[in-house]
This record gives sequence, structure tokens and C-alpha cells, in this order.
Amino acid sequence: MTKLQYPDTLADMEAHLRAKLPPDTDHDLIRQRAGVALEVNRLKQEKNAIVLGHNYMAPSLYHSVPDYTGDSLGLSRIAARSDADIIVFGGVRFMAETAKILNPDRTVLLPSPKGGCSLAEAITAQDIRELREQYPDTPVVSYVNTYADVKAETDICCTSSNAAAVVRHLQQQGHDRIIFLPDEFLARNVAAETGMAVILPQRHGRADAQDPPNLQRVIVGWHGRCEVHEKFTTDDIARARQQYPGVVVLAHPECPPEVVAASDFSGSTTAMISHVRKIESDSYLLLTECAMGDNIAAENPGKEMVRLCSIRCPHMNEVTLDETLAALQLGQFEVHVDPDIALRARASLERMIEIG
Ligand code: 13P
Ligand code: SF4
Repeated sequence: MTKLQYPDTLADMEAHLRAKLPPDTDHDLIRQRAGVALEVNRLKQEKNAIVLGHNYMAPSLYHSVPDYTGDSLGLSRIAARSDADIIVFGGVRFMAETAKILNPDRTVLLPSPKGGCSLAEAITAQDIRELREQYPDTPVVSYVNTYADVKAETDICCTSSNAAAVVRHLQQQGHDRIIFLPDEFLARNVAAETGMAVILPQRHGRADAQDPPNLQRVIVGWHGRCEVHEKFTTDDIARARQQYPGVVVLAHPECPPEVVAASDFSGSTTAMISHVRKIESDSYLLLTECAMGDNIAAENPGKEMVRLCSIRCPHMNEVTLDETLAALQLGQFEVHVDPDIALRARASLERMIEIG
């Protein structure tokens, strides 16, 4: 992947941002943003730092400072082979932790003190130990949206772009029962793709009565949900199709399964961006968090992005251009992972990276 380049004068950066940001953006604000971006880029050189920008970063940041942009898997790969002294992660904590685990000798900075995620907060390492007792000899797949101690209890991680491939890999190794957590909807979407049933264990024991286990091929899921993607409904899709005949609907696999089933395409954030580039339809609807829509819209001026909602991930929203500058100026907020946890978590991440 080639490193992104940006203008190095104020006038050029301003013109660059004006072309990328929504047309009604205030000119003084653009000039101010351009000045901050130039300073971030200067400090990157001075400190031998790189900035990684998840696809959900707000447009003024996304289009002005990341050396690389991408989805969780793409950015993990870049973090794993980076030789920069400092990695500033424009994203949330579980992503920055992943970068640290894969590259323990580097300083990893998260520009926000918390950078949470409703999925990462839905499961603990103790929950996994209990699941292992309840379902012995069952491999544990954890979504990368988990914290390091959960990854350390995991056999293999996955992201939204390789979740089905990881499950198929385990099926090929003869596993008919797989623990897959913490996202219930991702588990159900992957199960539909790989021909498995899903059971949700109750916190202390018995299986969920609504979902009788097919013990031949079963995913044992968990109760986590993304607070952004769980809000999309099939009514959103029906309304858009009525209003914009021919609209192409793209849903992130963290959306409810009935929403994914009613969509035309489902994939990781980067897969959605690539798909929008390819579609020939005049309009498209993105069922994912809304900053990414703005980033895509700037790149595809000939296609209309249908705006049905504006659900912003509150955690991604904590990382701004100003916070990124402060991170480089003050060396904050450094991500630390306990070395023993990191070693075990790294094994589950490396198994994922090997699979694809
Ligand atoms: P991607 O791996 O598709 O970038 O998704 C990460 C995420 O947090 C989506 O909500
Ligand atoms: Fe977590 Fe959802 Fe935000 Fe992604 S969009 S970081 S899954 S809360």
C-alpha cells in the first residue's frame, strides 16, 4: 500500500481540503484546519511518526494527515510492518492496542484518553474462560473489536473482512462447533454465510431457547452489539428503495442479519469503499457510521449518497485533528499492554493475519 502524500503549503492544503470537504464548509474553518494539518505533518517528519486513519475518521482529519487509511485488518497489517518510531492511531483503543501488540517496540499513541467501543466492552477475559469450560474442545474466535486480555484468551482473531474465511478455515480443520464473539450480529451474518446455526449462551448456563442448537454445525455467539450498526432497520432500506429506485444498499456486517439480508452488498469498511467505486448506479445508501459516508462522497462526486441517517460513532468522534496534533506534541496518550498478555494476544492476531 502506498503512503499517502499531502500538500506542504498552507494555500495548497487549503485548496486540497476545500475540494474534499462538503461545499458548505466555512472558509475560515478550512484555513484553520489546513494550518493544523500542516503542523501535524511537520511533526510526523520531525519525530519519525506515522498516522494511521480508520475509515471512520472525520473528513478534515481523514483527508489531511493519515499516512495510511483503511479498515481494521488493513491498518493492523500496516502497523505490523511499520518501522516508524511512533504510530499515532486515528481510531479507537482496541485498534491502537492491536498496533502495539503487533509492534511492541514502537510507541503507539491514541489521540483520545478512552476511545471505547460497545463491542469491546461487551466481553471480558473471564467470560471466555467460562465459555471454554462450558464448551470444551471448541476453538474461540474473537472479533478484533476486543481488548488485549480477551485476545490473549482467544485462539484466532478476525475482522469484518476475514470473519467468514476464519470460520471456514476452522471448519476445514474439522471443527463443527466454534465460539465466536462478542458481536451477536456478526456471528449471525457469518453463520448464514458458512451454513451454521447460532446459539447464544445465557450469562450463566443454558442456551438461548429461541435458537435451538444444531450441534452438528453451530456457532456459540455472545451478546455484544455495535451501538451504531444495531440501529439500522429494514424499514430504512425499504424507504430508500421506494424513494430512490435503483439505489445500491451497502451494509456493514455488524448490522442486524435481516438488514444485511435485505442489502445488495455487505463487507468491511474498506470493502464498502471499493464497492462504491465500482457500482454503476447513480445512488447508494451506506448502512454504517456517517463520517465514512462523507469520506466516500468526496471521492465519488458523480454518485449520489442517500442520507437516511447520521449515526456517528461517539468513540471514533473523540479523535480530531486537534487531538492528533496534541498527541504528537505531548506524546499522549501512550498505549501500554502487559507483556505477557501481549505475547498471547499476538499469537491470535498472527494466526488471523496468516489466514487473510
Ligand atoms: P472495519 O474492520 O470494517 O473497519 O470495522 C471496524 C468497526 O469498528 C466497524 O464498526
Ligand atoms: Fe465500536 Fe461500533 Fe464504534 Fe465500530 S462503530 S468502533 S463497532 S461502537
